[in-house]
Amino acid sequence: MTDKTATITLGDKSVESPILSGTVGPDVVDIRKFYGQTGAFTYDPGFTSTASCESKLTYIDGDEGVLLHRGYAIGELAEHSSFMEVAYLLLNGELPSADELKTFDNTITRHTMLHEQLATFYRGFRRDAHPMAIMCGVVGALSAFYHDSTDIQDPHQRMIASHRLIAKMPTIAAMAYKYSIGQPFIYPNNELSYTGNFLRMTFGVPAEEYEIVPAVERALDRIFILHADHEQNASTSTVRLAGSSGANPFACIAAGIACLWGPAHGGANEAALNMLREIGRPERIPEYIARAKDKDDPFRLMGFGHRVYKNYDPRATVMQKTVREVFAALKVSDPVFDVALQLEEMALSDDYFAEKKLFPNVDFYSGVILSAIGFPTTMFTALFALARTVGWVAQWNEMISDPAQKIGRPRQLYTGPAQRPYVPVDKR
Ligand code: CMC
Repeated sequence: MTDKTATITLGDKSVESPILSGTVGPDVVDIRKFYGQTGAFTYDPGFTSTASCESKLTYIDGDEGVLLHRGYAIGELAEHSSFMEVAYLLLNGELPSADELKTFDNTITRHTMLHEQLATFYRGFRRDAHPMAIMCGVVGALSAFYHDSTDIQDPHQRMIASHRLIAKMPTIAAMAYKYSIGQPFIYPNNELSYTGNFLRMTFGVPAEEYEIVPAVERALDRIFILHADHEQNASTSTVRLAGSSGANPFACIAAGIACLWGPAHGGANEAALNMLREIGRPERIPEYIARAKDKDDPFRLMGFGHRVYKNYDPRATVMQKTVREVFAALKVSDPVFDVALQLEEMALSDDYFAEKKLFPNVDFYSGVILSAIGFPTTMFTALFALARTVGWVAQWNEMISDPAQKIGRPRQLYTGPAQRPYVPVDKR
């Protein structure tokens, strides 16, 4: 809170609203009493100017291209930490000591198995089901299996549910993939790291040992770090909104997965790679840039632009570097990477993209890496969901513990008919 206030005048009425200041970032006008004082609502579709909550987790400065988790820059975390470390940081507020990390890692590892009966759920899906359809269903179904962690008023149960969700997500995602290709499910192996385990459950087969390539394990772990949390984005806001009614955490995360699936959000990495493959050759780039600029064409450059970043997405910088590392480790290349690099260069030197401040986002290069590792495009969003689960549960816990939290209930500007008399069917 500051001493500053904002005065809003509506007709002959003036109201003073307190101005709240965060640690960094724009001030916030507290309009909680605005309706009571004025009888008017505020209007902000897409929440472009509205802070929906107070949070200590993640800070983004979109103009400067800054992303901090609990104060630590994403570039530093991606370079020096592990996904488990970042998960601990987001959940607990501080980086873990070596012992704390060991204990946390051990706890997560010991929650990776799924109730055996959940395997039968998968068999109810068609083999060609999108992994995100399976993820929504199976994660929602966890609430039917883990009754001992659905009392949201009990902090201990909340933490167990959080650990379970983080731990089981790789198993659920890998099983979705295995089911789609008709291979047997692979159980988790407690000797492996979180990410190594996921690679083995995805690409291993019971008939032989699966060899983890350390550079690939590291690259995927870094991709998970880059996706761990991102402030009040659409899926996180969905999780918070679902949770605000008191819904159990498994149901809330299933809601987040459903929201993430959309092509404007988590589905963009799949769409971006599909677009790059469709472009195929650098000569065709101008045609696609022209289409992206054409107001009458709904086509957009996927992996470009962001609601918050009006500068280079710091996650895209790390992604671009990681592509090269994965290619070197696997001794592969992909012409689609050249298309991506040239498309980025041409778009960034084009006035349309400069004026609208459209830069590559995290999804522009992630698909190229995931594809090189061997993931089919349909798994990309599932991997995003796996990593974002950490942010979702951290934000959900923060919301439940916040005394200012209320059930989310936006208002509206009603433009339908005013009350009118019912007309019997024979008179219409
Ligand atoms: N290609 C061409 N034009 C674009 C693009 C694009 N990728 N993105 C925005 N624009 C234009 C848009 O047409 C609009 O032009 P005008 O002002 O003339 O109407 C202007 O830029 C502002 O766009 P907007 O849709 O009002 O901006 P927004 O903040 O509502 O949308 C966005 C942000 C991410 C949905 C949008 O940039 C987009 O659709 N990008 C492609 C999809 C994508 O890559 N999504 C991943 C986001 S990062 C991952 C995540 O955090 O989930």
